[in-house]
Amino acid sequence: MLRTAIGSLQLDSPLLTASGTFGHDPSALAFLEPGDLGALVLKTVTPEPRFGNPPQRMGEFPGGVLNAIGLENKGLAYWRDEIAPELTKVPMPVVANAGGHSAADYVAMTEAFHAMEGVAAIELNLSCPNVVGGIQFSTDASALEEVVKACRAATDKPLWVKLSPNVASIVPFAKASEASGADALTVSNTLMGMLVDWRKRKPVIANGTGGMSGPAVRPLVLRLVWECSNAVNIPIIASGGAQSADDVLDYVVAGATAVQVGTAVFRRPGVISEIAADLRRLLTEENTSLEALRASLDWPHPLSC
Ligand SMILES: Cc1cc2nc3c(=O)[nH]c(=O)nc-3n(C[C@H](O)[C@H](O)[C@H](O)COP(=O)(O)O)c2cc1C
Repeated sequence: MLRTAIGSLQLDSPLLTASGTFGHDPSALAFLEPGDLGALVLKTVTPEPRFGNPPQRMGEFPGGVLNAIGLENKGLAYWRDEIAPELTKVPMPVVANAGGHSAADYVAMTEAFHAMEGVAAIELNLSCPNVVGGIQFSTDASALEEVVKACRAATDKPLWVKLSPNVASIVPFAKASEASGADALTVSNTLMGMLVDWRKRKPVIANGTGGMSGPAVRPLVLRLVWECSNAVNIPIIASGGAQSADDVLDYVVAGATAVQVGTAVFRRPGVISEIAADLRRLLTEENTSLEALRASLDWPHPLSC
């Protein structure tokens, strides 16, 4: 009932993990029932190891969290030797997420992931707000085109482009990604934000600013998903504040094919299985399907005329 496909990638469920919120390896899968998770999207990997930003790296507020982890990871060589061999045993497609500072870094990551048997698809993190590099690719459409084209030439595996919400309009970036050969768009990465502690007169996280995620961003990301879905013909993967089956179906009606669940997992590690059970129940009760609901919003799109 939950089966879906993102282009050529067949999934048992439209629910995906969100990069950076479900670990660096498959060990957190123990919290979920197989069949509930469509694909395991892992934390961003960069060519060289990164220590990340100094602590404190995360802050909470009523609508979610602010993070500036700074893409901490052990680098490509470690990933290739220690993590990639484990991925062939994972009972669902694994999506590797690539980060870097330059187009050459992204191409090197894409080539490396292309060669790994356990990697079913590649998500380009071209939108991390917490490191130098990355973000410029989703705030400059010509830089985005250049890097996506170069990565496209390096692989025939499904290539997803994760876009930034921190732009005046996401539409040119969605169109540039599609024109450059992206197979799907992940909409979106975190929103630039800030938390302060007025007593200390200091920002809550050491980086000062960070990326906002969780329920507070959901209406904003829903609007972005809707705009992208009206602008391009490739599948949209929603990523922003989903924490219930209703949230997921709202995204589907707005045009999403799949939905990543990130921040909600911090509070309830098994939340993806809970959402999957609720999705099956709601679709049965309403006698409908994901396919029937997709992009079915009954509202004219003002930008499409
Ligand atoms: C602690 C934390 C770390 C994250 N790390 C990454 C990352 O390494 N790469 C990436 O592409 N996105 C990263 N993200 C963004 C998430 O993948 C997701 O796009 C975003 O949090 C919105 O979804 P959510 O509101 O369900 O969390 C991170 C988010 C959080 C909260």
